[in-house]
Amino acid sequence: MAEKNDVVFVDGVRTPFGRAGEKGQYWNTRADDLVVKAMIGLLERNPQVPKDRIDDVAIAATTQQGDQGLTLGRTAAILAGLPKSVPGFAIDRMCAGAMTSVTTLGSGIAFGAYDLAIAGGVEHMGRHPMGFGADPNPRFLSEKMVAEDALNMGMTAERIHDRFPALTKERSDRFAMRSQHKLAAAYEAGRIQPDLVPVAIRSESGWGLATQDEGMRPETTLEGLATLKTPFRPHGRVTAGNSSPLTDGATASLLASSDVVKEFGLTPKMRMVSFAFAGVEPEIMGLGPVPSTEKALRKAGLGIDDIGLFELNEAFAIQVLSFLDHFGIDDEDPRVNTWGGAIAIGHPLAASGVRLMIQLAAQFAEHPEVRYGITAMCVGLGQGGTVIWENPTYDKRAARKG
Ligand SMILES: CC(C)(COP(=O)(O)OP(=O)(O)OC[C@H]1O[C@@H](n2cnc3c(N)ncnc32)[C@H](O)[C@@H]1OP(=O)(O)O)[C@@H](O)C(=O)NCCC(=O)NCCS
Repeated sequence: MAEKNDVVFVDGVRTPFGRAGEKGQYWNTRADDLVVKAMIGLLERNPQVPKDRIDDVAIAATTQQGDQGLTLGRTAAILAGLPKSVPGFAIDRMCAGAMTSVTTLGSGIAFGAYDLAIAGGVEHMGRHPMGFGADPNPRFLSEKMVAEDALNMGMTAERIHDRFPALTKERSDRFAMRSQHKLAAAYEAGRIQPDLVPVAIRSESGWGLATQDEGMRPETTLEGLATLKTPFRPHGRVTAGNSSPLTDGATASLLASSDVVKEFGLTPKMRMVSFAFAGVEPEIMGLGPVPSTEKALRKAGLGIDDIGLFELNEAFAIQVLSFLDHFGIDDEDPRVNTWGGAIAIGHPLAASGVRLMIQLAAQFAEHPEVRYGITAMCVGLGQGGTVIWENPTYDKRAARKG
């Protein structure tokens, strides 16, 4: 039996994210074209990688119909110009689709089946509204397997507020506002743009270029957030301001074994340490990252205090706060979502997992004193996913100084 190979995240890119719907920048853009664009951008950034050496392509989408159907990994590989000898497939774990693309192909690399692989995801929530065409088995409700509102993500977020009264709307709003301000600061400092692949877009006024995330609201204030409606429940606490918005976008990443990294002179941005998925009651799905993180930490032999950077998907502010409270981390801990999160950037469901990794990798490069980082997210129907990463630029001396 061969030893497990080291799995590294060589690089990752994404399209700028767009607001879903008719007024959004990608309304006239196909979903598959978004992920193809990201893949082409990724390959162009890594010209030393021979395309015919890519062993597999996994692309996730939650709604696998129309321009998100037909085994996306294979169709996107052909459209992106990979040789026909490169296979591909589609993945679905709702919001953790791209994360599951990475862990699935990463496992193949660790096993020795793959040397190089492309993992990503896409969700065009404008063209494919959440839950569209789904036909949940009636037994879910008739046999009371899940609560009636378990498939309404906003309701699951309201239920976390119910369960933890200390997590107030004011805390959610403050967390959401900070996400907007942190993203604005990161853009201002030019930290987000290097990993974006611009996309040509067509609108009534002609052709244009999408170069930045469209949903940003840098002017957000607590006072403004306090006035917003609560669409999921009368007098609720979850609003458009403290939720991730409906979003279109795609991500793509290049994974490799450490042997191939040497062969092609690649510079890995992260090493995969461990990963885990876990389930919770579907009606409080936002708590999912708690058990998945505990499991991933256990598998890595690490504790939460070993983690120097956290990229937590902000499906809802309340859901991230429940994670932070569980682990005793302050709402404003500077290690958490340092450059803002999904509330400001957007959350194109099955694409977001790799967006978290792109952002963590970029921060690792700036923080040689940090050895480990986490990417984690909640998943519909009561799941959580976590991947723990090691920083290849980690320097013990920098850590001591820090
Ligand atoms: C919450 C949700 C229903 C809101 O949808 P929406 O009403 O189309 O959202 P909008 O962007 O139009 O925002 C609604 C209003 O809030 C305002 N708003 C949103 N964010 C704001 C902010 N940060 N500051 C001030 N106002 C804000 C908008 O301007 C808009 O105002 P208007 O009605 O006067 O135009 C939708 O974003 C949603 O379902 N999010 C969750 C997605 C999800 O479940 N993902 C999966 C997670 S597991």
